Amino acid sequence: MSERTRYGGDYNPEQWPRHVWDEDVRLMGQAGVNLVTVGVFSWAHLEPSERAYSFGWLHELLDLLGGAGIGVDLSTPTASPPPWLSTRYPDVLPVDATGARYSHGSRQHFCVCSPTYRARARRIVEQLVSEVAEHQAIEMWHVHNEYACHVPYCYCDAHAQSFRAWLKRRYGSVEALNGAWGTAFWSQRYGDFAEVMPPRMTPTFVNPSQDLDYKRFSNDAFLDEFLEEREILRAARPEIPVTTNFMGFFKPLDYFAWAAELDVVSTDNYSDPASPDGMMLSAMHYDLVRSLNKHVPWMVMEQATSRVNWREHNSAKVPGQMRAMNYQAVARGASGTLFFQWRASRAGAEKFHSAMLSHSGVGSPVWAEVVGLGAELAGLGDFEGAVVQARVAMLFSWPNWWALEAPAKPANDLSLADQLSWVYRPLYRAGVTVDFCRPEEPLDRYEAVVVPSLYLVTEQQGANVVSFVERGGTAVLSFWSGIVDEFDAVHLGPYGGPLRPLMGCDVVEVAPLPRGETVEVEWEDGTRTGADFWADVATEGDGHVLARVATGPWRGRPAVVGTQLGAGRAYYVAARLDPAGLQRVYDRVPALSGPAASARADYGVERVVRVSSHHSYEFLINHSAEGREVEIAPDGFDLLAASPLGDRVRLSPMGVAIVRRETGRAHG
Ligand code: GLA
Repeated sequence: MSERTRYGGDYNPEQWPRHVWDEDVRLMGQAGVNLVTVGVFSWAHLEPSERAYSFGWLHELLDLLGGAGIGVDLSTPTASPPPWLSTRYPDVLPVDATGARYSHGSRQHFCVCSPTYRARARRIVEQLVSEVAEHQAIEMWHVHNEYACHVPYCYCDAHAQSFRAWLKRRYGSVEALNGAWGTAFWSQRYGDFAEVMPPRMTPTFVNPSQDLDYKRFSNDAFLDEFLEEREILRAARPEIPVTTNFMGFFKPLDYFAWAAELDVVSTDNYSDPASPDGMMLSAMHYDLVRSLNKHVPWMVMEQATSRVNWREHNSAKVPGQMRAMNYQAVARGASGTLFFQWRASRAGAEKFHSAMLSHSGVGSPVWAEVVGLGAELAGLGDFEGAVVQARVAMLFSWPNWWALEAPAKPANDLSLADQLSWVYRPLYRAGVTVDFCRPEEPLDRYEAVVVPSLYLVTEQQGANVVSFVERGGTAVLSFWSGIVDEFDAVHLGPYGGPLRPLMGCDVVEVAPLPRGETVEVEWEDGTRTGADFWADVATEGDGHVLARVATGPWRGRPAVVGTQLGAGRAYYVAARLDPAGLQRVYDRVPALSGPAASARADYGVERVVRVSSHHSYEFLINHSAEGREVEIAPDGFDLLAASPLGDRVRLSPMGVAIVRRETGRAHG
């Protein structure tokens, strides 16, 4: 990656007459743009009819951008096949669970298992490479676009065939599949792999293990297509980093598996600027993306300068908010922040999506912010490669997400996103930075791990968390954890499976509370906090009961249990505690309690620290509409204001300070 923060956006010049390109490049220079994504939706322009190619415009564009010193993130165009392809070969179109075939006319209308699509996708990528791969303007490869965004699951015959082959590889024999899926239930026993179907329309709940494997398989099918494209690009220019744009907490794809295959992890973040939780969710999105592959850089590939156009009501970012949100990404380690898109379209489904250059041109207030931020970022350099250091890990896995939210559960309104927000929100407010980790990942570098509803846990994953605690770590584990194995079959006995050593009590029943009902939880000192949504029915075990359910039918049952295990400690939280209750658990764990009160950021002010070998950089970002004064450790230097600081810093509404200190003086 370059030493400058990457700055720019998707550039779709095929939507504009040639003379506009010259203006674009001139204005990109004014805005400090140093990277643009080109070609994302250009298939129909590059191959207007089958095997008739038109690359002249792309050569000219690359020359123009390269000549102006603007790097190109060159995309493969496979996310939106041209109409001729699906007209000539309807089998490239995906099919939904009812058997209905999609049509062209928007985008992403392809079936990733269709041999016809795959062959044509390969061919256009090979053609792209043979035409332009040597161009010196290319700095990054951008494969496809937001894999699976609109059509995550296809149920066509090609999928059925590939699914069966995938199952054969996974299980070896149909007997093993029957065992893993529990097909003794409802007479679902298969005599042959040929009888197995994708989870198409069924009268009632489909077999949950089948559904889980279909999610695994569908993820693998998209990843396989990605790898095929990546190999073509790598063979041509191995030194050019490859990325594909993720979407943060996007349920259909296991981005941990994907990120292992990328040179740069990139993401598209469209957190709602008007939502009370928007900035917290955005921070969590970035923490996840930074954590997906802890050995490669990451960047924001897309975000909006102001409004999107695809929500029911699309709030604009208020003045300064776009800048503040960009610094949020930089604070959490982003090596670049790009936008969708450079110039707002005149026509098409996204013409009212904001852009760097609005319909009104340079007169828009957005333009002034875009230019201002570009200049500022160019002046800041790359923070000497300073990294975000987290002492806390949050365990998260896609298979758990898939299984947890499959239907026919005690509470079908239990969402993993809600559970994550519940445990993440107090940490965000306290300025505690979190890495996300797969449950099987080495955890030694962390002091504490938070485990929100790890419903699906394998023996190996459970052993990993238990041994982390035994060796001195602290774990905070919530209800509905350790319930099933990798096939979605229940770990029998009191609930908890391989996580039981951390629970200190026996969870013998699970009891979702009636909607809207709360219970009180009484702590050892007699004080009470609240809980809602869920209360385990637990009996005491070898742990120490720190709080009990104090009202309602489960009065007296353990609500929070602390357990000493080896050199470490675990806390089991058996109900959805209110913020005050959860804070009481966190207050027992130094890594979860945040910086010392004097350095703790006020609410509304996000705080993150990056550290290099020479300096620490404390980012303070005021997401609120009022000015804030924040107490800080003395002797810092405000990089943005270019002035030394005492023990406080004033932040205007949406204001940002980056406090640089010699390494060793940072608090956090
Ligand atoms: C996604 C896509 C872009 C565009 C934006 C709009 O991120 O990748 O092509 O549609 O959404 O927000």
